[in-house]
Formats: sequence, C-alpha cells, structure tokens
Amino acid sequence: MFRARRQAAGLGRGGCGLRWLWARTRRRSAVLFLLLWLASWLFLSGLFFVHTTMFSDFCTDEKSRRILQRLCEEYQQGALTGDLCEDLCVAGHVEYKRCLYYENGKKVMAAIWRGVPIVLKSKLENFSSYETLALLEYQDTAGDLGVEEELSPLDVVFYATSQIKNLLGLEAGSNLTLPRLWGQKLRKKSQFYSRAELASLWALVQQEEYAFLRVMQDLTDHVAKVLGSCGHFYAVEYLAAGHAWDQNIFSLEEFSHSLKSEEGQILTETDMVPRVALSFLDMVDHFEKDFSHHLHLCDIKPENFAIRKDLTVAAIDVDMAFFEPKMQDILEQNCTNDNDCNFFDCMSKCNTKKNKCGSKRKNSNLQVICEKIFRLWFSPTLLGEKAGRPLQVELQQAVQDCAETMSGENTLRTQNIRLHLQGLLTQLVQEDSANHRSRKQERAKRHIHTALNF
Ligand SMILES: Nc1ncnc2c1ncn2[C@@H]1O[C@H](COP(=O)(O)OP(=O)(O)O)[C@@H](O)[C@H]1O
Ligand SMILES: *[C@@H]1O[C@H](CO)[C@@H](O)[C@H](O)[C@H]1NC(C)=O
Ligand SMILES: *[C@@H]1O[C@H](CO)[C@@H](O)[C@H](O)[C@H]1NC(C)=O
Ligand SMILES: *[C@@H]1O[C@H](CO)[C@@H](O)[C@H](O)[C@H]1NC(C)=O
Repeated sequence: MFRARRQAAGLGRGGCGLRWLWARTRRRSAVLFLLLWLASWLFLSGLFFVHTTMFSDFCTDEKSRRILQRLCEEYQQGALTGDLCEDLCVAGHVEYKRCLYYENGKKVMAAIWRGVPIVLKSKLENFSSYETLALLEYQDTAGDLGVEEELSPLDVVFYATSQIKNLLGLEAGSNLTLPRLWGQKLRKKSQFYSRAELASLWALVQQEEYAFLRVMQDLTDHVAKVLGSCGHFYAVEYLAAGHAWDQNIFSLEEFSHSLKSEEGQILTETDMVPRVALSFLDMVDHFEKDFSHHLHLCDIKPENFAIRKDLTVAAIDVDMAFFEPKMQDILEQNCTNDNDCNFFDCMSKCNTKKNKCGSKRKNSNLQVICEKIFRLWFSPTLLGEKAGRPLQVELQQAVQDCAETMSGENTLRTQNIRLHLQGLLTQLVQEDSANHRSRKQERAKRHIHTALNF
C-alpha cells in the first residue's frame, strides 16, 4: 500500500522527478561503489595479514619458550650439549626476555645470562633440522653398540675446517682448533669427544654466522662476541643496534650516563658521534688488514651495526660479509653494463669485451660507510649551528669526497681518504673536549665572582 502511494507520487511529479531520482541513485551508486571498494580492500588486506601471520613464523614468547623447552629436553636426553645448557636448563641462570626476530626459520631472542644481556640465535628452529655429522651416521650403520662412541678431535677438526672453507671461502689454516671453534669448555683431560658434543658442534658449524663470528673472535673487536652455546643455539652479547629512523643512528643518549670523556665530563650525543665515527674507521682499517684476506661488507646500513658501552662499533649482521676469494666468485658475473655488476653494496666494472664483471671490487667498505652513514651524521642540516665551523665544513667535504671515490683497488687512495677523515675527527673530538674545559673554567670563574660579591 505504501509502495503504491509512493509510486503514484513519483508518477505525479513526472519526468523531472525521474531525472532527479536517476541522478540521485547514480550519485548513491558511486558512493556505494566506493564503499564496496574500500570494504573489499580492507577485507583483502586483512586476509593478507592473517595469511602472513599464519604462514610466516610470527615471533611470540610462547613459541620461544616452547623452542627453548625442546632444546632442554634434548639436552636432558643427552642428544646435545654446550657451555650454556646447564645454566639454561638446570640452574635457571638464563632468563628469557623477548623474541627479537623470526624469519625463514631463523630464531633470535633476547635473554639475560647471569646478569649479562645476551641474544640467543639459531638459523633453524630444531636441532634435528641440521645435517648430522657423516661420521656419527657411519658409526650408527657400523652398529658397534656397546663400544663407547668417541671420536678423535682430529677427524672433527678436519670436517669443521672443510666446512668453514666451504662457507667462508677461507683457508682457516692450522690455527683453527676445536676449542677455538666451540669455546673453551670442552673436556680438557680427554682427547675424545662425546656424541652430544660433536653433534652440537656440527650443528653450530653449519651456521654461516656462527662459523664467521667464531673465526673472527680473537682477531677483532668489531664483531659481536660469542659468549656460549647450547646445542644449535649460540649466545652473542646484546648490543644496541642502529636504526635508520634516528639521525644519530644509535640511541646515544642511553650511553651518555655511563660515559665520560678523558676529562671526566659527561658526553653529549654530538660529542659521541665523532667518537663512534672513529671506531667505524678503525673497523674499516682492521677489515682490510687483519685477516689473511680483505673482508668486504656488502650490506652496510645502520641496522647492521651496533655499539658497545665504550662506543666501539661491531658488525651484528654478517650474512653479507665476504672474504676476498668469495667476493671474487660473487662478483664474476656475465654482464652487459656496469649495473649488472652490483651486488648490494659491492660493485665491480663490466668488461664489455668479455661481457664479464671484473672480479675486483670497484668501491670499498669505506666508500659505502661514508655514503650511507657518515653523510647522515655530517650533513649541514643535522649539525645545525655547528655546521659553519671551519672544521665541520672541511669534514663535510672530506665525507663527500670519500662517498664519491671509487678507489677499490687503489688501496693507497683509500688509505689517504681514511687518514684524512681520521685526522679531522680526532681534531673534532679534541676541540669539543677543549670547549668543555673552557666552559667549565668559565663556570668556575663565575662561581668565584659570585662568591666574592657576597
Ligand atoms: N647482538 C645483538 N644485539 C641486539 N640485537 C640483535 C643482535 N643480533 C641481532 N639482533 C636483532 O635481531 C635482528 C635479526 O638478527 P640478524 O642476525 O641481523 O638477522 P638477519 O641476518 O636475518 O637480518 C636484528 O635486526 C637485530 O635487531
Ligand atoms: C620442530 O619440531 C617440532 C616438534 O618436533 C615440530 O612440531 C615443528 O614442526 C618442527 N619445526 C620445523 C621447522 O621443522
Ligand atoms: C696463527 O696465529 C698466530 C697468532 O695467534 C699468527 O701469528 C699466525 O699468523 C696465524 N697463522 C695463520 C696461518 O693464520
Ligand atoms: C655466461 O656466459 C657464458 C658465455 O658467454 C655462458 O656459457 C654461461 O652459461 C653464462 N652464465 C650465466 C650464469 O648466464
């Protein structure tokens, strides 16, 4: 009845009303379409979110705890071991804090070990996911049960050395011993290792990052320290990683309380930047000279570096660090132009006659650090009122030169650029200290004056 009346009214208004109605529905359908579009967009992105959270490893405390629990069960069953296991599984000296990162199976979590903040890492979640040592399998098939299964360390050193050679493309040489590979707490008396010890060591050696960090431990301060291990998990020192969104890259204010300069004054953030920069230069120098081969960092960004309390810089993500022989393998690609020869931050030239990239890197660690890190720090916008100081102007120029110079093979050129920067930064640190001192003296003088006035 209502409908009939409305229809009648509509008809009564005639053609004009119809057109109005048409325009209105058209506008309304446009709005409706927009709403529908928005809804389906929301729905799809929601679906995508659910999908990614369900199918990628989502980092949860519950999952972390379950992983550590499994680790401890296997420790108690005698399948794996390590110098961290007792504290983690029995004594309760390792306190889980939070998970940092789960991706592609890699597990990274933060914990406190006897008061020391650590990061627990493993490339794969499960111990059983790692390859078993062929030597142990052989023993199984040989079936000599009852005989105490112990292996000579020499065999294992041989296996481990060839493994490291494969992973790092590096001749580890005669210096590589088991204690160096696995920390110190192996049984000292015995010349033999238990099955759990070998299996654990083998799981660790399969992880490039572990192998790399271990080989580097005694050679440099500029990588994270490995503090211990339990099964396939290893502990490295917890460091304050850099972040791209912070102009200072590192949250330096965290450190200012614990840090004093030589004169005992508290350092401000701007005082700290040149000190951290000097540590970067020191790292560049070490990575060029200290090992049997030049070490190339091909993924240089704030997130991949961290600083310690004493402001030394350490590389924390070494997945893209390669020694010279491996670097050459990586760079030697077919190419038609130079762009084909860029491997992240490591670049070489295309030889267009042979259509092959040069095996030597064209740029250097220093060039990339200048471009991606120093330029942020020593730009006029960040420095503010300090930017006009002659030393700062010179430093900006030096950083710019450094960022633009592709002097890969010319080590002398790189060396000179580094020394120039080092000189300027050292001067800057000294100048700041001098400023602090004179300000302190001024304050002291004023204090005397006011004291005399009263
Ligand atoms: N030593 C460390 N101290 C503090 N945080 C760390 C440390 N090592 C790794 N992390 C954190 O864990 C994250 C992932 O670790 P990382 O080894 O870099 O994984 P990936 O190599 O897959 O990027 C890093 O982004 C960093 O925030
Ligand atoms: C690890 O082991 C657990 C229990 O055995 C299993 O549920 C899980 O799927 C395994 N994870 C991987 C990545 O193999
Ligand atoms: C072995 O280590 C010693 C010092 O620890 C060093 O002088 C020597 O060059 C190293 N040898 C090799 C082959 O790396
Ligand atoms: C590179 O080029 C050579 C011949 O020019 C060819 O044989 C080879 O397969 C190419 N390699 C790759 C990875 O494309």
